Amino acid sequence: MRKKIALIGGGQIGQILAMLAAQKELGDIVILDVPDYENSVKGKALDLMHMAPHGNYDSHISGTSDYKDIRGADAVIVTAGVPREEGMTREDLLSTNIKIIKGVAKGVKENAPNAFCIILTNPLDAMVYTFHKVTGFPKNQVVGMAGTLDTARYRSFLANELGVSVADITGIVLGGHGPTMVPLPRLTTVGGVPLSEIAPQELIDKVVKRTREAGTEIVQLFGKGSAFFSPAWSAMVIAESYLKDKGRVLPCTALCEGEYGINGLFIGVPCLITAKGMEKIFEIELTDEEKALLETTKDAVQKTVDECNV
Ligand code: LAC
Repeated sequence: MRKKIALIGGGQIGQILAMLAAQKELGDIVILDVPDYENSVKGKALDLMHMAPHGNYDSHISGTSDYKDIRGADAVIVTAGVPREEGMTREDLLSTNIKIIKGVAKGVKENAPNAFCIILTNPLDAMVYTFHKVTGFPKNQVVGMAGTLDTARYRSFLANELGVSVADITGIVLGGHGPTMVPLPRLTTVGGVPLSEIAPQELIDKVVKRTREAGTEIVQLFGKGSAFFSPAWSAMVIAESYLKDKGRVLPCTALCEGEYGINGLFIGVPCLITAKGMEKIFEIELTDEEKALLETTKDAVQKTVDECNV
């Protein structure tokens, strides 16, 4: 039987998620949005169905505003919520998006209680925390997409600066999805060669700084709204690893219960993603300097979570 993927939110990211899931033939796709946007997601679904003959996929795509239509979903990807406008931090979205996430969590809990859930709504770490609290789902069933995107941005910047293929850059970004995130140049390699052996410190510092502000750089360019292509691809990589049991090791926002000295917070850490969902968090030995940076990002995430009152 085909897998079923429910996309909660049919805006910029949601529509690209639908296209990617179809092109990858990951399963049948339901795009859900609020009643005001029901016709819009129905139209997008129909448009994508008409792309199937040239796109070479047999996925069935539908649009709805009724949570009953997500029943039986294997994976749920949540993008519902408002995006940033120029001058806003992700935290400025909290009061609006927390109401939306609570409603989404209720709908998912009632209709797709076994689905693996990937959250993209900002402020990311706090929204994943809220979704987990409201659903009460086991921790392996809920992750946030952030580190996967932040690491992709870090790899992309490095590849461009060094003039090498992005495929040969491996790296990891830990922590919250915001300016306090922690890229780890010490563990970055370029085709197996340690980054520090081939890149001057100024270049590394420049890339780390740009990575931390990459989402904001795009919001400034758009003026209104935030990135959509790369967030969609990043979420799809996580979903695909789950749906195909690939066992990718990806930085995701996961519930730490003692790992990295963090207890009870969702934050970006390296995760093993299999058919069991978030099967395992890998712990890396950090230097004192990296530990201090992780402490700072943890405090930033904790502050936003405290404001959620859930
Ligand atoms: C970004 C948004 C999706 O980083 O948080 O672009």
